[in-house]
Amino acid sequence: MNKESISPLIKLSSLTKSFNGKNIIHNFNLVVENNQFVTVMGPSGCGKTTILRLIAGLEFADSGKILLHGKDITMIPAENRNINTVFQNYALFPHMSVFENIAFGLKMKRISFEEIKKKVKKILYMMQISKFSRRYPHQLSSGEQQRVAIARAIINEPKMLLLDESLSALDFHLRKEMQNELKTLQRKLGITFIYVTHDQEEALSMSDKILVMKNGSVEQYGSPKEIYEKPKNLFVAKFIGEINVLEAIVLHRINERYIKILVEEHECVFYTNINVLNGQKIKILLRPEDLKIEEINDKDNPNGIVGQILKKNYKGMLLDTEVKTKKGKKIKISEFFNKNDSHIYYTLSKKISVTWKKDLEIKFLI
Ligand SMILES: Nc1ncnc2c1ncn2[C@@H]1O[C@H](COP(=O)(O)OP(=O)(O)O)[C@@H](O)[C@H]1O
Ligand SMILES: [Mg+2]
Repeated sequence: MNKESISPLIKLSSLTKSFNGKNIIHNFNLVVENNQFVTVMGPSGCGKTTILRLIAGLEFADSGKILLHGKDITMIPAENRNINTVFQNYALFPHMSVFENIAFGLKMKRISFEEIKKKVKKILYMMQISKFSRRYPHQLSSGEQQRVAIARAIINEPKMLLLDESLSALDFHLRKEMQNELKTLQRKLGITFIYVTHDQEEALSMSDKILVMKNGSVEQYGSPKEIYEKPKNLFVAKFIGEINVLEAIVLHRINERYIKILVEEHECVFYTNINVLNGQKIKILLRPEDLKIEEINDKDNPNGIVGQILKKNYKGMLLDTEVKTKKGKKIKISEFFNKNDSHIYYTLSKKISVTWKKDLEIKFLI
């Protein structure tokens, strides 16, 4: 087996980078495999662009290493890395036609014109921009310019394509359309895409892996399911999707499967096989879509958290409700809208119980 097929595509080890004496990237470690769609997320200014620029060779690390297929490329300049980037402001060459823009990288390589024509034609077709090949950038819509920018970046068959918020200039519908196409394109090319976005829904649906960053470090790197269902900490839990965080105290373990906890002054039963101690303080994490609302009357002693309906918001398929507990904590619930269900007709301030499926595995942080 050759080295390329056994080593990961790229490995970043203990990378650090400062600008003007200010440390921006700290002890950054990441391993990305070949043929993956990786999404990078994190608050503005956390270092997403800097990481992409370090991978591309547009910046050099102060310390640490970057290996590409096991080969040390830490100090190798961008043009020798075979990694291409599409930036947010995908500046096309204004004085060149679409064809010339895309052909540019091949011309630099001194490939024959016949060969260039063949390759550009293929990419134009793939990106569905064949009919624009003679136009100039100013004669294209932003969506069309975006396609040209991507075509220009993949013509050289890079090992990796980096996309830094490349779709953020597009309107909602066009962005959704391009997102789907990007995923298809990644599969077709069989190369790794590293894609920076702020759109969580998009990240969850299209990525093989999600990288969540904060203050220049990796908070968590994992599959969308891992990130969503097993967030490593509160930051990741809150960053990806909506989540209710409730302070609770473990009362005792009932049996192998269930524990009893005190939350918002209610004794509730939750499913977990993770060891906890009696009296331990925990933070329970409840996704709105794992919760439902149940009607109660005063005699009931529900296995749930009692509160009052504060707000209702119909969102087509979904009904979002906000409930306020006796202690004043707000809880969000998101249920499928069913017009035959009596509780959608509840009036505001009605007393209800927030419950969950008995076998919902409780997520909590200590
Ligand atoms: N060339 C540079 N010179 C000085 N500071 C920079 C430079 N590039 C980035 N920074 C700073 O590094 C931090 C991270 O920036 P960036 O990687 O662009 O974040 P993100 O893409 O996550 O928004 C910011 O505080 C930014 O101002
Ligand atoms: Mg950025």
